[in-house]
Amino acid sequence: MGAVKVLVTGGCGYIGSATARWLSQRGAAVTVLDDLSEGHRSAWDGEFVELDLLDRDALHQWAERKEFDGVIHFAARCYVGESVQQPIRYWRANVVPVIHLCEVMQGVPLVFSSTCATFGDPLTPTLAEDHPQNPVNPYGATKAAVERLLRDREEAGEGAFAALRYFNAAGACPSGEHGEHHDPETHLIPLACQAALGRRDELTVFGTDWDTPDGTCVRDYIHIDDLASAHEIALRRILDGGSSGAWNLGTGIGVSVKEILDAVGECLGSPVPFVEGPRRLGDPECLVADPSLAKAELGWKASYTDIERLISTAAVWHQNHPEGYSS
Ligand SMILES: NC(=O)c1ccc[n+]([C@@H]2O[C@H](COP(=O)([O-])OP(=O)(O)OC[C@H]3O[C@@H](n4cnc5c(N)ncnc54)[C@H](O)[C@@H]3O)[C@@H](O)[C@H]2O)c1
Repeated sequence: MGAVKVLVTGGCGYIGSATARWLSQRGAAVTVLDDLSEGHRSAWDGEFVELDLLDRDALHQWAERKEFDGVIHFAARCYVGESVQQPIRYWRANVVPVIHLCEVMQGVPLVFSSTCATFGDPLTPTLAEDHPQNPVNPYGATKAAVERLLRDREEAGEGAFAALRYFNAAGACPSGEHGEHHDPETHLIPLACQAALGRRDELTVFGTDWDTPDGTCVRDYIHIDDLASAHEIALRRILDGGSSGAWNLGTGIGVSVKEILDAVGECLGSPVPFVEGPRRLGDPECLVADPSLAKAELGWKASYTDIERLISTAAVWHQNHPEGYSS
């Protein structure tokens, strides 16, 4: 990566902290900005500023004395259900910070955390970049809107961008430094690990009558170190003058909820207690990436394609961090 100066917003969060560490280990000078609304201060021990991106004046004041080669913007609110209940909060939380950042970082290339939720209900078995973007919840809509904003900015010559649309981010750094700690936790793998370790009651499997091999929903789980490497490559591309764009980041392999529970149980030597519940409104049956464009244009592909290997990193993190970052 070399000595580029990178601002990582949301760098005390799950994916942001893993990426900040990844870039810093490869020679980048990383500054993390986070308001700690969701993130954990102990997730990052380098250069840090505690700042809320919604506070335009504070951001302007702080950024006046700084110069960055690139920005990686992770900071956002990320709970789909909450976004349905509080849409205005989500539009404000996920769009306004990008406007503020673009105002203070004129011309600076920006890598953006987008999501497969920008696509809405899949029309094809795997999702490529040209799949229509019809988000079905405010969270996905805010992310699609930011992609549009960044395209407009780029077309006006005000800064290159890379929108990286993650599928289900998962796993922990093999070094044991970074893992998943959301509050409340809504993601399947941490919930399953905590249930198998007896730290929470059984979990609910939402729907066992889907048209999938075992009746449960199928998702594409992408390891956080694979996401980190994609950010490094995408940032390098736009810093070097390569064209802007959007890329889907997944393994291309679908894994069912039951397969995840089996793998977690196997890894931790204790079955995951679960109950079967009804389908959840708005859950697509199957969400799997077609990652061919990222391979062709970025030269990136996932290295964690074996779900047991990915889950073992998460299992170790949860065994060693019973209280997450508070442990
Ligand atoms: N986790 C996933 O599976 C997934 C999938 C697709 C996309 N994403 C996107 O990736 C990004 C990171 O996700 P994550 O799971 O690491 O989330 P996270 O909640 O762990 O991290 C987000 C970080 O942003 C910070 N933040 C939020 N609002 C802020 C503000 N106004 N000013 C400063 N800091 C602020 C939070 O404190 C937190 O540390 C998000 O943009 C999310 O939408 C995540």
